Amino acid sequence: MDKVCVARRIPQAGLDLIAQHAEMILSPHDRALTREELMDLCTGCRVLVATLANRIDRDFLLARPEIRLVANVAVGYDNVDLVAAREFGVMVSNTPGVLTDATADLTMLLILALLRRLVEGDRLVRAGEFRGMHPLFMLGSDPRGKVLGIYGMGRIGEAVAQRALSFGMKIVYHNRHPRPEAERELSAEYLGFDEFLGACDVLAITAPLTEETRGVFNYQAFKRMRPSAYLVNTGRGPIVVEEDLVRALDDRLIAGAGLDVYEFEPKVHPGLIELPNVILSPHLGSATIETRNQMAALAAHNVIAFLHGQDLPSRVV
Ligand code: GLV
Repeated sequence: MDKVCVARRIPQAGLDLIAQHAEMILSPHDRALTREELMDLCTGCRVLVATLANRIDRDFLLARPEIRLVANVAVGYDNVDLVAAREFGVMVSNTPGVLTDATADLTMLLILALLRRLVEGDRLVRAGEFRGMHPLFMLGSDPRGKVLGIYGMGRIGEAVAQRALSFGMKIVYHNRHPRPEAERELSAEYLGFDEFLGACDVLAITAPLTEETRGVFNYQAFKRMRPSAYLVNTGRGPIVVEEDLVRALDDRLIAGAGLDVYEFEPKVHPGLIELPNVILSPHLGSATIETRNQMAALAAHNVIAFLHGQDLPSRVV
């Protein structure tokens, strides 16, 4: 039987499927393994079921040439060196589609929580400072009539736009390429990057991390945004230069931010932690029971297809 290494416990549905088709080597620890621990664990395995915490780079693949499939339990795969994988003929799979709604829901949640000052209000109540509502108390802003900018109009970006439309927001977007069909369905307008920055009341980053998107949101970009604008990031942390974001918030170049992902995850810039107009969530985009079950099952189906020499349901490389 082929050996399949699972780098960290995933929902049982996925483990059960894998165990029916392979000898499963599951990490005994409830934490991210170190590189050395993972190398040891996956010795002799043809498949590695990995999470975003596992850096599968060229050296790793060179040191474990018996691995022929990296099945990532995530839609993103910036933790895997795809160039090396291609070169060595290693397949890579991900879990697209099943987490679109959950991630779009969380993005919308951050947008609404920022506009309506929900987390600020929660802190005020807990601090014993609620003295009763009054006409000028804790006023936020309506989403209706505001412009939502989507940076990265892929599956998740579109699902965010659909939700935002039902809240009466107008949609603009910036993408590598214009998406005419999304424009028709969402009445969305494509804008060049500088114009896009200046047009948004809320700017949501839903793009993957690539060499093109890394560090795009820097101080210069924040300078082009509206001082009343909010930034939301549920894509990848390193798309935003956190140091610059802190400076931009301090300098009031933008009004606030809602972040689910971080440049140096799991570290969070201390400047962000001090700011009351920032909402920080711990990478919860796909974190629902239903979604994680489906992600685990999809990762397992990629593994099973590979073991049987069939086409993978969601192959990246
Ligand atoms: C989460 O960030 C994912 O890529 O699935």
